Amino acid sequence: MNVTKLKRDLKVTGRQAVRLLKRLTTLPQSRQPSAEVPSPNSIAAITWFHRIDLGGGTVTPGVEDTPAKLPTFGIPEHLDGLSVLDIGAWDGFFSFEAERRGARRVLATDHFCWGGGGWGTQAGFDLARRILGSKVEDKRVDVLDLSPETVGVFDLVFFFGVLYHMRHPLLALERVASVTKEQLILETHLDMLDCDRPAMAFYPGSEIAQDSTNWCGPNPPMVEAMLKTVGFRKVIIHSGPNYFVPYSPRMVFHAWK
Ligand SMILES: C[S@@+](CC[C@H](N)C(=O)[O-])C[C@H]1O[C@@H](n2cnc3c(N)ncnc32)[C@H](O)[C@@H]1O
Repeated sequence: MNVTKLKRDLKVTGRQAVRLLKRLTTLPQSRQPSAEVPSPNSIAAITWFHRIDLGGGTVTPGVEDTPAKLPTFGIPEHLDGLSVLDIGAWDGFFSFEAERRGARRVLATDHFCWGGGGWGTQAGFDLARRILGSKVEDKRVDVLDLSPETVGVFDLVFFFGVLYHMRHPLLALERVASVTKEQLILETHLDMLDCDRPAMAFYPGSEIAQDSTNWCGPNPPMVEAMLKTVGFRKVIIHSGPNYFVPYSPRMVFHAWK
């Protein structure tokens, strides 16, 4: 494959061919990158949460510096043969990353934003999946509707940045546990850090970031206690508190069935 052949076969300009070639040589074997080069307008038309490298020098302008956060999550480098469920996937950064690391199957789920309830939509996920030539599957499903019957069970489950949006956090974790076969990686906002006992702040209004979708702030013993209550036998703190958002201390927990 070379620039001349790409130009001829795909009828693209030399510059587009160079970008495509670069993308072809940097993507994992499992992906078949599309020949589509995203136009600046199609990127700008979307409100992005994640910064996703689409190849050819295009990175989506997410409000969160997702690549900077990624190392704190402790996602295993190699996921070969594993099935992965990404709950609250939004633009899909972590789903595409799981696929890049070799996961056999990845299902991205979301509900609030994908259903039009937030300031983002599913458009970013759809565009990124197309450009990356990704095979990540998607399903619009509320956390409380997750079950082996609705989505199946997965070797590895991601639950990043969602717990504190739950009105019923323990019930939500019960649903998450029901679809986890081996391991859960959970990232959440925390509160009540001065308290040694399991404790959780409740936010009935918009007290956190003027966002009424934030409902609770557990402390680390509370997260650990809830995870054990819903059936995880071993829970560790992988990293944190992390302060990517100054008003919101975050921690990453790993839990095993
Ligand atoms: C702060 S974003 C986190 C996005 C991504 N997981 C990350 O860590 O970068 C919270 C996500 O949870 C989703 N969400 C909120 N409530 C939900 C619910 N009840 N069911 C499913 N997804 C929900 C939102 O739509 C949004 O995509």
